[in-house]
Parts: sequence; C-alpha cells; structure tokens
Amino acid sequence: MNDRAKLKFDIFKELIDKYLDKFVPVIYPEKIYESMRYSLLAEGKRLRPVLAMEIATQLGASQEEILPAACAIEMLHCQSLIHDDLPCMDNDDYRRGKLSNHKVYGEAIATLAGDALLSYAPRLIIEKTPQIVPSEVLLNVLREFFIAAGVDGIVSGQVVDIESEKKSISKDTLTFLYEYKTAKLFKLAVRTGAIIGRASEERLRALTMFAQYYGFAFQIYDDILDVTSTIEEIGKTPGKDKEKGKSTYVSMFGIEQAKQQALFLCNEACTILEDVKLNSLILEGVVSDISEGLKKCS
Ligand code: IPE
Ligand code: IPE
Ligand code: MG
Ligand code: MG
Ligand code: MG
Repeated sequence: MNDRAKLKFDIFKELIDKYLDKFVPVIYPEKIYESMRYSLLAEGKRLRPVLAMEIATQLGASQEEILPAACAIEMLHCQSLIHDDLPCMDNDDYRRGKLSNHKVYGEAIATLAGDALLSYAPRLIIEKTPQIVPSEVLLNVLREFFIAAGVDGIVSGQVVDIESEKKSISKDTLTFLYEYKTAKLFKLAVRTGAIIGRASEERLRALTMFAQYYGFAFQIYDDILDVTSTIEEIGKTPGKDKEKGKSTYVSMFGIEQAKQQALFLCNEACTILEDVKLNSLILEGVVSDISEGLKKCS
C-alpha cells in the first residue's frame, strides 16, 4: 500500500481502536468484559472495519454514520477468532501476538466472550448509528450482519473446515469452505459500507465480487503464511494447518500453485475495482499488500 493510502488506513484504524475501547467498558462481572477487551483491543489489522469505512466515506457518508457498524464487524471477526482458537476447534495457543483468549481466561469465559461480542455487535449498530441513517438502511445492514455471522456464513464455513480435517475433499468443497469461513465476512464489510453509503445496485454487485476475489486471495495467503512465516510475523502459531491436517489450497495444490492462484485472484480483484469507480487508494492498497507479500514468500 502506498504512503498516502497507509496514512488514511491508519487514521481509520485509530478511530476504530478508540471507539472499540470506549464501547466495551469494564463493569460487573468484570471477568467477561476484560476477556472481551483482551482479544478485541489486541493488535489486529482492522482490515474489515477499515474497508467498510473507506467505502462508505468514499460514497459520501460521514465517518459517524459507518463507525458503529464497522466496529460491529470487527467484533464479529474477533468472536470468530476467539472461537477458532478453542481446543475444540483449531486449538491455537497464540493470537494477535499474545496468548489466545482461552489460555488466559479459560475455555468457559473465552466461549462466553465470543458469545458476548457476537450479541453486543448488532446492539452497537442499532443503538449507536446516528438517526440520519434511515431505519430501512439499518435493517438492511443488520440482515447482512446476521447472514454473515450465522449458518449462511462463518458458522457453515467453520463446520466444513473442521469436517475436512485429515480428509481428501473436492475442489468444490474447498471453494465452499473459503467462501463461507472467510469471503463472507469481507463481503459483509464492503456491503455494509456500500449500503450505508447508499451505493447503486450495480456498485453493490461489483463490490461484492471484489470481496469474493479478495477474500479468497486473503485466505490462500493466510494458508501460505502458516507454512512460510514465524510466530513473530503472524502473531499466531505457524504450522498449525499441517498439524491439524487442514484441507487448504496449499495442502491440496502445493505452495507454488497456491501462490499463482492467489496472485490471479488479486489481479481479478483489481480489475473489478475499475468497475467500482471509487478511486480508493485503500482498496487498491489492501490488494497490493497481498500480491507484494505473496511475491516475497517462498
Ligand atoms: C484472520 O484474519 C482470520 C482469517 C480469515 C485468516 P486477520 O489476518 O485479518 O486477523 P487480524 O484481525 O489481523 O488478527
Ligand atoms: C480463518 O481460518 C477463518 C475464521 C473464521 C477464523 P483459520 O483457522 O485459517 O484462521 P487463523 O489462521 O487461525 O487465523
Ligand atoms: Mg480455523
Ligand atoms: Mg485457526
Ligand atoms: Mg490460518
């Protein structure tokens, strides 16, 4: 991402961090709030909420209009990470450069922290989005949120991910898995930005396609990094996919082919950005971060 895009990205990131800190207080029973804050305020990239903010504001909405929904998406993402790390799922001890939630608070509180974030998020959208956003728009945003969070989204993606461990799966199953566990959340981010920014149907469609390609490239890159990176670089334990026998692009086609596929998807995502006509340095930047990163890993 170029310097101008990075500067803007960091301004959005700071706003999101500040807002998340403000809206998850520590009150009785403190343990659950502390556990929520432990994961939520840890050093995440904030990609999804920044994408939502960038799209909404490029379309003419104010930062105040999109900020609660953007933060709600980060809460949903954070919930998916806390649960993904649990011993009954990926059993990962590290996340965002720190011990994972259950390693610090125990499995019961970590599970509940995920539940709490998931239910807090839509409340934030309802209670904190300014009144100038019409109720129909808000309802639409909530509908998208519940689709991505539920059985038409991450839940089914995670089910197929777990069920595909130590198994040979078809390409269609792999595609389902990537789409549901990862791309759906990026689609939620861009569609939320587009809906709050009152995008045309045509733009909404193009942005959804962008998120589809970007989401797939993102997950393939994550799977490659699992093999090629250190814990310091990714803030989570490398080598986990192999240890768990995960079915990924890398395990099915090898690193080189996975890399080529991810680069192809980045190119497709860039082409779609031309149709989107948002002139967004951040959207271009997040794609080039993946393609540049891919070129460096071996
Ligand atoms: C991790 O997402 C989960 C995947 C879909 C691979 P991120 O890599 O965006 O995680 P954070 O938010 O930066 O921790
Ligand atoms: C990411 O899957 C999808 C989620 C819903 C968290 P991974 O299991 O590959 O994510 P990491 O590598 O643990 O972040
Ligand atoms: Mg997983
Ligand atoms: Mg995992
Ligand atoms: Mg991974």
